Amino acid sequence: MIALACDHTGIELKKEIMGLLDSLGLAWKDFGTNEPVSCDYPVYGYRAAKAVADGECDRAILICGTGVGIGIAASKVKGTRVCTCSDVYTAELSKRHNNSNILTMGARVVGPDLAKMIAEHWLTATYEGGRHQRRVDMITAIENGEAL
Ligand code: RB5
Repeated sequence: MIALACDHTGIELKKEIMGLLDSLGLAWKDFGTNEPVSCDYPVYGYRAAKAVADGECDRAILICGTGVGIGIAASKVKGTRVCTCSDVYTAELSKRHNNSNILTMGARVVGPDLAKMIAEHWLTATYEGGRHQRRVDMITAIENGEAL
């Protein structure tokens, strides 16, 4: 299950991502917003990120104007590994090396075709583990207040 969320800037792009997920046969759950009025991205980023952290959803794709604000908000939820991407290479490697579980994009940064390409690469990439696991474990340690 893929969690989806956006602020008012990302509603149209979120619909494009819904279409992509449908075409890939991936189930999704929408955490809003769907109201085209100015709203606060942390609310929606938090709700989707919490669903990932709680195991209700496997991953999330979040959209705001730049992808940055909603990504920062989501990254405050323990257990998330957020990547804000505007290129395919970063999106794919964030999964293969960092085991990212939340992708964020900027609706004012990337067009719909590029956004769907980024999302598809991220969704279909596989975490490689191995030497990367030690580093991901270190990230978790930092999150748990441990010193490195
Ligand atoms: C809204 O104007 C904008 O600030 C928001 O969508 C996002 O880009 C913040 O990071």
